[in-house]
Amino acid sequence: MSESTPPVTEPVLELRGVSAGYGPFRALFDVSLAIGAGEAVALVGPNGAGKTTVARVASGLVAPTGGAVLVEVGRALMTQPRLVLLDEPSSGLDRGETASLAKTLREVQEDRGFAILLVEHDIELVASFTTRSYLLDFGRMIASGATAEVMASREMRHAYLGDLEVPT
Ligand SMILES: Nc1ncnc2c1ncn2[C@@H]1O[C@H](COP(=O)(O)OP(=O)(O)OP(=O)(O)O)[C@@H](O)[C@H]1O
Ligand SMILES: [Mg+2]
Repeated sequence: MSESTPPVTEPVLELRGVSAGYGPFRALFDVSLAIGAGEAVALVGPNGAGKTTVARVASGLVAPTGGAVLVEVGRALMTQPRLVLLDEPSSGLDRGETASLAKTLREVQEDRGFAILLVEHDIELVASFTTRSYLLDFGRMIASGATAEVMASREMRHAYLGDLEVPT
């Protein structure tokens, strides 16, 4: 699995070395992420990792204290959205409802062609819907790559289970 982000052509969202936080509290450290036109990308990580903060920075709700954000969101919304940010859309849904959510997302995305950044804990939804994933832990991007590889990675097990030994 690559530690660094593969080059993304025609990015609709790009965070480069972003730091951000709330007052004196720092939630993100040197976070980089890029999403290409039409891509479905997941951002996963344990509670408090900073996923929602990434979404807030991307949408301009939280200003970065360092690094650069290149977003198309504002301008694009006036015409046709090129990027949709979804922060845990499956929370509160049961399995069946989550499956229909995935189906709807796929259909709408195919129809409209926008890129999606999906912040999600539901691994099944992430796996069924996205092609690439980023893994955030304690405000740092610790892994990125093909979704299947990130989901199966040592970093993923470590982030979610800590030092518990899990048979592979
Ligand atoms: N409005 C806020 N004011 C102060 N601290 C905040 C605020 N929002 C989040 N934080 C802190 O920033 C850190 C990252 O939080 P964030 O909500 O981005 O994590 P998350 O990955 O989205 O977590 P979850 O999976 O629980 O949604 C946490 O330590 C959290 O307590
Ligand atoms: Mg969150």
